Amino acid sequence: MFDSIRLSARPSKSAVLVVGVFASDSKQEGAKPSLDSSTAKVVAGAGVGDVVRAALGRAEFDGAMGSAAEAFSAKARVLIVGLGKPSSLTTENLRFIGGVIGRKLAGAKATAATIELAPALKSTGISTINGGSAVGEGLGLIGWVCDEFKGTVTRKKDGKGKFQSTRTKLEVYSSDAKFGAGVERGLGLAVSANFCRTLSQTPPNIATTSYMAQQARALAKKVGLKFSIFEGAALERENFTGLINVGKASENKPCLVRLEYSPRGSKNARPLVLVGKTMTYDTGGLSLKINNGMVGMKRDKDGGCAVLGAMHAIATVIKPNKPVVALLSIAENSISDEAYRPDDVITYRNGVTVEVTNTDAEGRLVLADALCWACEKEEPSAIIDLATLTGGVVVALGSTYAGMFCENDALRARVEAASKASGERVWRLPMHQEYRDLMKSPVADILNSNPNRKAHPIQGAAFLSYFVDEKIPWCHLDIAGVHVADSNKGAFIDGPTGWGTRLLAELVDA
Ligand code: BES
Ligand code: MN
Ligand code: ZN
Repeated sequence: MFDSIRLSARPSKSAVLVVGVFASDSKQEGAKPSLDSSTAKVVAGAGVGDVVRAALGRAEFDGAMGSAAEAFSAKARVLIVGLGKPSSLTTENLRFIGGVIGRKLAGAKATAATIELAPALKSTGISTINGGSAVGEGLGLIGWVCDEFKGTVTRKKDGKGKFQSTRTKLEVYSSDAKFGAGVERGLGLAVSANFCRTLSQTPPNIATTSYMAQQARALAKKVGLKFSIFEGAALERENFTGLINVGKASENKPCLVRLEYSPRGSKNARPLVLVGKTMTYDTGGLSLKINNGMVGMKRDKDGGCAVLGAMHAIATVIKPNKPVVALLSIAENSISDEAYRPDDVITYRNGVTVEVTNTDAEGRLVLADALCWACEKEEPSAIIDLATLTGGVVVALGSTYAGMFCENDALRARVEAASKASGERVWRLPMHQEYRDLMKSPVADILNSNPNRKAHPIQGAAFLSYFVDEKIPWCHLDIAGVHVADSNKGAFIDGPTGWGTRLLAELVDA
């Protein structure tokens, strides 16, 4: 919708004024919502009372959360947004409202907006900075466009043969500096999440394994992260057997990418390690996906994309004083005469042997390499992995919650707090020795999928647990249901959500 959105230090004359209105408390039928006194002052100060009254007078506008009404006069353009009841307003609502504002501004072809929601926030429990951040996130998220893959049917070229942009640049201003700082933070987080979304959207013939590594390298250069990569002989040397085997059948060779954010003075601190499944395409391998199950598997890289987005946010917005390491297991699960097969047995660098029973349970195989490496080499304070791991989690939780596996109370509390702050919901699923026993193999130590079809998402987590040192706090997030949206409302449109980028950023910020 927008080319870019930035916070401006000064209001623009042509700006659309955005104010918030709570729903009327009155039980009387047809009672109209009205401005709270702080917002009324701002409106009077701007001399646009009559235009605001015109918008408030719209029959259809009742102040319900996410509703909106516009009014224009020769001297002013006003957008009023409904905030619902003061006591029930949440940051999640404000993110949604940010999306509503963005849609309206784009519809009105606005290039500047003065957002004065801070006065209304005073009658809620939400801090000005958190409220601003949520609105900034919503605005930035709805601003996302990815029309790179649109051709001459949907886009016009200019005289020089270049595609013309139909998008506008948007400047945002708030007279409340704290709210403005929050908006700027939120816009920054959205830029990071949008980077993740564009990668998710990029088709698998373009977003190959080397393309993903190149994206990580370019990110590192741009925002100041250390970059290293294991590929070819280095994969063999380090015995990253999951990547080698899963990636064998594709002409696009597998690799493991490592990024490091290490602020000054943090040399002796243990890093948080973020691990991402980055399957550039998942055909299922020889256990080929059937019945259209393959469509959309370009997004099987979204765990890694979320981790890249988080590293972007960490380096550009959060800037914590503690180190963070990212490990991306990058491969394409394809088929050829060189493909790994059901019945193969592979041996990991920690000595665990795995009988492959299903080549479509490939994510856990490549994550295992990164988890082994993290435990052995990174001295992590904690490990969090993100993966589009199982269709089972989609069946269980739909697109509403990601599946969370975390047996460490302190880390789980941090993930839950970050979930609350970001609005990216997690639901805890259980771990038990019985699930770990499900993964035992008659041939090798463990198998990669128990054919009895029990508890699939938990099987995935149980498998991974064999590659994590028990003493290290670890959280596995199965994002197969939440990385893509099928509806178009609030801050999101149907397509990639960037799920995880903002949660991880909030976790590092706390
Ligand atoms: N990438 C898929 C999981 C997936 C499914 C992601 C649907 C997004 C939407 C994963 O590699 C997979 O194929 N999982 C199998 C595991 C099974 C073979 C044990 C599944 O869930 O069916
Ligand atoms: Mn698969
Ligand atoms: Zn997969």
